[in-house]
Parts: sequence; structure tokens; C-alpha cells
Amino acid sequence: MIDTHSHLFDESFQNDIEECITRCELAHVNRILLVGFSHHTNKLVQEYAKKYKLFYPTAGLHPSEASESYKRDLDKLEQFIKEHKIYAIGECGLDYHYGKENIQAQKELFRGQIELSIQYHLPLIIHMRDATQDTYEILKEYSGKVFGVMHCYSGSLEMAKEFIKLGFYISLGGPVTFKNAKESKRVAEQIDLEYLLVETDCPYLAPTPYRGQRNESSYVKNVVAEIAKIRNMEFWEIEEITEKNAIKLFNMEDRL
Ligand code: NI
Repeated sequence: MIDTHSHLFDESFQNDIEECITRCELAHVNRILLVGFSHHTNKLVQEYAKKYKLFYPTAGLHPSEASESYKRDLDKLEQFIKEHKIYAIGECGLDYHYGKENIQAQKELFRGQIELSIQYHLPLIIHMRDATQDTYEILKEYSGKVFGVMHCYSGSLEMAKEFIKLGFYISLGGPVTFKNAKESKRVAEQIDLEYLLVETDCPYLAPTPYRGQRNESSYVKNVVAEIAKIRNMEFWEIEEITEKNAIKLFNMEDRL
């Protein structure tokens, strides 16, 4: 299995990262996209990837990093991309959950990273919260040139299909296991399996039965199990399909 979105470098893991990794191995989670979201965490991700070979590093600037100095931040990110091996740009995107005061800076930071992804031919990891329409419209401007994944997707099935048309995979995480997550279950049931990925977004959004606790990458098995149940398929089938999809999208073969 592949957890396509993990923040195992988070300080909540600092006392038991080795145990977390052992639990991943026992659960057959053998590859993990370790996702940066700021200059600091992008560096941290590289250190972890050097130490543990199951980690595949990314680098990006989360919309919460957006400020007046977005130009300097984008230059710094580009320099980082030139100097380090990464498998994706992100997470990046738009987040209006805490207000829209810095909407222009968010959009500039997002566009800048889309352009870097095109220039360096890397997939994008998109964070989208309460900003579906703007995210869709911006990505559409780059249609035919962009590709990547809608991370921890929680939107409608109809919009998921539109993002797939633009070149994006749909990644489901812990929320698909929640009892009340009707739309996510509908997405899991009906999405074209060729574009489905799984993730944890740990330490956040732990799946049932760990809901409310610290999430970790080994729990991606609970996401796979839920999707298999919803689709009336075998666990190993979803495991195999989502693994194949992730290897293809992120070009992960070279680190085997
Ligand atoms: Ni994340």
C-alpha cells in the first residue's frame, strides 16, 4: 500500500517514529509520500527521506503560507526544487476556511507553484478547502499542462469527475470511513478506479476506529478496507489498484 499524503515528520511523532515505521511495514505500507508545506518542513522532509527509504519527498507552500512576500517565497521554492530530488510539488492550493483576507496572495502562490510544476514536469498535490470553484477555475486555465492529485478530496462526485478531466487523481483519506460522510462514500463507490488514490494526511483526520486520535500512515489500511467494502471488492484489489496508480502518477519506480 502507498500512503500518498503523510506528515510523519510532525512533532507528535518525535518519540515513536521508529515504531510508526515498523507498524507501516507490518501493514504492508511500503511507500509513503512525505509532504512538505513550508520552507521549514520541505527541508525536514528531505532529512527524513535520507534516513528512511520508504519516504518519497515532496516540496510545496501551503496556502496558509501565503503573504505579501509570495514572490520571494516562490523563488526560494524554485531554488529548493533545483537542488533536491522531489516527487511532487505541494501541498499547495487554496484555503478559504479561515477567511478570504489574503485571497490574492493565496492565488499568486498557487499559480506560481502550478507554473513550477509545468516547468519541472512534476505532479501537483492540491489542498482545497472551501474553495472548490476558484481552485477549479485556476487549474482549468492550465488545462492540458497540469496533472496531479486532489488530496483528501471531500467534494462532490460531479466535481471529482471534472478534476479528473483536468488531469487529476482523487485521493481519499480517513473521512471516507466516517458514518456521516455520505458524499465521500458516493465518490468511493462510483469514481473511476483508474484515478483513485488513498492517503492518511496524518497526524490529522484519523479513520474509524481511531477517529479523534493521532493518525499515522499505517492506518491507510483502514481507508483501503472501507473503499473495498463500499465497492464490494477485495481488500487486495483496492490495494493493488491504488498502489499502481500512485507509482504511475508520482513516477516512483526509480527509488525501488
Ligand atoms: Ni497535508
